[in-house]
Amino acid sequence: MRVAILFSGRGSNLKSVIEYSKNIDSINIVCTVTDNPTAEGISYPFSAGIPTIILPDRKTSSSFKEWESIITSVLSKYDVELVVLAGFMIVLHDDFCSHWMGRCINIHPSLLPRFPGLNTHQRALESGDSLHGCTVHWVTREVDGGEIISQAMVEIFPQDTIASLAEKVLACEHQLLPGVVRAICEGDLAFETNHQDSIPHIQV
Ligand code: GRF
Repeated sequence: MRVAILFSGRGSNLKSVIEYSKNIDSINIVCTVTDNPTAEGISYPFSAGIPTIILPDRKTSSSFKEWESIITSVLSKYDVELVVLAGFMIVLHDDFCSHWMGRCINIHPSLLPRFPGLNTHQRALESGDSLHGCTVHWVTREVDGGEIISQAMVEIFPQDTIASLAEKVLACEHQLLPGVVRAICEGDLAFETNHQDSIPHIQV
């Protein structure tokens, strides 16, 4: 299956999927896309022979809708069948989510539905939770709210800090995401078409 990975920064999940895909024929990473020309992870796909498309600055588009349509144009040009959001720090809106519904997944550093949004490790510590982790979910227009595909858990110990928790969760992410991508590419996993979010959104 033709896969694109979207990222904005460090790119460690991007790297984990690319590395994993090298031995898995069903995963064909055809391009990576970033909104950040100075993203730490930007040189990695190049070294793996995968093109990286740097999106134009959002301020050069007349609207977010127009800017977002550039992403869909790029992905369509590469005949992408599965979009993987791996630390892509832009909230995608209705048009993108509807177009790619059932073909777009995201990795999030918490056990959703707990802690959607940012600062998840800090929030898990402050809440006194004993378990934390990461989630891969289908992307819908509700931020971090799409149907959960798979999760990995870590224990929170009294001595844990934001940094130690982030490190443990990230290690889980690097295991979880490639496995989910593979399952989708091999047809073992598909979007539930009876999910409420698959109903076309009508604006009034
Ligand atoms: C990860 O924690 C991911 O769950 C979240 O953003 C972070 C990206 O990290 N969505 P990296 O760029 O893959 O290293």
